[in-house]
Amino acid sequence: MQQDTQPIAGARTRPLPPRPVLVPAEGENGLFSQSWFPVALAAELAPGQVLGLPFLDGRIVVFRGPDGKPQAMSAYCPHLGADLSVGKVVDSRVQCAFHHWEYDVSGACVKTGVGDPPPPAACLFTFPTQERFGIIWVFNGETPLFELPQLPYPDAELHFGAYRMGQELRCDPWVFAANTPDMQHLKVVHKIQFDAQDPHELVKWHEFGMEFSYSGTHQGGVPIANTAGILGTSVFYRWGMYGGYWRCNVTGFSMPRPGHHEVFSCSLVRAGPQAQEHLDDVLRVSRRTVGEDKDILNTIHYRQGLLTKADVTLGRFLRYLRSYPRAHPSADFIN
Ligand code: FES
Ligand SMILES: [Fe+2]
Repeated sequence: MQQDTQPIAGARTRPLPPRPVLVPAEGENGLFSQSWFPVALAAELAPGQVLGLPFLDGRIVVFRGPDGKPQAMSAYCPHLGADLSVGKVVDSRVQCAFHHWEYDVSGACVKTGVGDPPPPAACLFTFPTQERFGIIWVFNGETPLFELPQLPYPDAELHFGAYRMGQELRCDPWVFAANTPDMQHLKVVHKIQFDAQDPHELVKWHEFGMEFSYSGTHQGGVPIANTAGILGTSVFYRWGMYGGYWRCNVTGFSMPRPGHHEVFSCSLVRAGPQAQEHLDDVLRVSRRTVGEDKDILNTIHYRQGLLTKADVTLGRFLRYLRSYPRAHPSADFIN
């Protein structure tokens, strides 16, 4: 008996390459990578303000505690579920707008509006939170697995400026993070020329990221000597000489909901008489570089497909991502 489907005469039949093991999408099986994610610029959170923000496909609030430090917590009041972002800060506590229960920075309800003792279970989920590089960062987990980049100069010797892109890109944060080990794109999209061979051999891998140093030229023949790395799945850093001065970028990719992220970036230069001039230049190059990636990442349908020799480091990064820790301990609180 003849088969229903026959190859069309002359058509090339070619077996598909073996299906690779894929990097899990953020939110797959309800899990997200355990990384530091930017949620807001530090300048967007004034003392006394409660910001409601999307995070991990749920909702959080961020406010400043008595010491001015930001604290991120689940947004929904355990009493009847009001969104705490419509409440206010009273004595460094978040007061729910509905019945005036108040939550301190540890997430515990310490007071109700009518004087009933708060139920012991009336607690919010509190996330590890820090303000660094002009950005508020929140860790997906109960305890951070790694620290944000430690720069080679103390803060007092640095001058910085932070910005957010103002537009979400339609891909997971790790897709942007995978740009750093993508040597092909560094050369053709950003026009970096390495002094030596592609620096695959120079990449140092560790449990929560990778780092490599290289020298070469950037667009316009600007000499560069960089150390660049990725931490977790959402933090990029790069520092070193750019032309005649030292500069650094620390960039984070946010995690509002699966398949989306926004770029938050800080540029830093050495303090001194020319600091502002250098900072303006670094911010210009930073925005230009993100702009070069933007349309590609906003439309990408990421496939972990056919790699070549120039993709050695990218291939290893994809393997790193596949086994990266994923969890969602705040799921019951923020949804
Ligand atoms: S819902 Fe928040 S105090 Fe009642
Ligand atoms: Fe890029």
